[in-house]
Amino acid sequence: RQHRMTPSDILARKGQAPIACLTAYTTPMARLVDAHCDLVLVGDSLGMVLHGLPSTVGVTMEMMILHGKAVARGIERACLVVDMPFGSYEESPQQAMHNAARLMSETGCQAVKLEGGLHMAETVAFLVARGIPVMGHVGLTPQAVNTLGGYKVQGRGEDGARIEAEAAALAEAGAFAVVLEKLPQSLGARITGAIPVPTIGIGAGPECDGQVLVVDDMLGLFGDFRPKFVRRYAELGDSASDAIAAYAEDVRARRFPGPEHVFADQVARK
Ligand code: KIV
Ligand code: NA
Repeated sequence: RQHRMTPSDILARKGQAPIACLTAYTTPMARLVDAHCDLVLVGDSLGMVLHGLPSTVGVTMEMMILHGKAVARGIERACLVVDMPFGSYEESPQQAMHNAARLMSETGCQAVKLEGGLHMAETVAFLVARGIPVMGHVGLTPQAVNTLGGYKVQGRGEDGARIEAEAAALAEAGAFAVVLEKLPQSLGARITGAIPVPTIGIGAGPECDGQVLVVDDMLGLFGDFRPKFVRRYAELGDSASDAIAAYAEDVRARRFPGPEHVFADQVARK
């Protein structure tokens, strides 16, 4: 049986080999990702990718627990992290503890991720002191889309120093890794060099200690959504569309089912 990656193993990769991460929301996708990646994230992006929500703001604890449980059943060796949804941790360290403990005990994940820098540092320290490994997330934080005014690149110019301070505060508070989303490459590199824990980049350049993508994006499954930072490794959406069109045509032309798909009156003798 293979060693199960822990948050401590992820932390120890700083300055070593790059950390490969992807999201997963279901058991079969978790199995595929677990075979190759170091860390699997049940991202609250599932609200948009799976449930058709306009942003991650409407994602609930119940959704994260349901998908977290499904993903946990498909994981044998990767480190499993579940996102804390909007509204489940911002009020107080106590609220965050209550909900992070639920996510961990009900799904079996090894860590939680939450968005925000300086203003979340106290909460991160509170959780870590009580047995909950925490991954931070700064730069573009999609739960704050309504105050950020869209999904723009963050940290250009003067703002870069602020985001670096946010990442440093999370590391100082005990986060075992920090996601950097949609930053200039130079800022991703600078933060990676400045903080003692791994940076996991998504649109933050190749110098980050690891990379993460939404698996449906890199597989070409999530519609026409093509952020600049995604490399499409497959076009599964196109394949699925072709397959479904062929099936519907076959049904209408009575080409499906074929002779190999039918059952005889009698069980065939050996
Ligand atoms: O929700 C998500 O999928 C994420 C990653 C893209 C970092 O937070
Ligand atoms: Na997220």
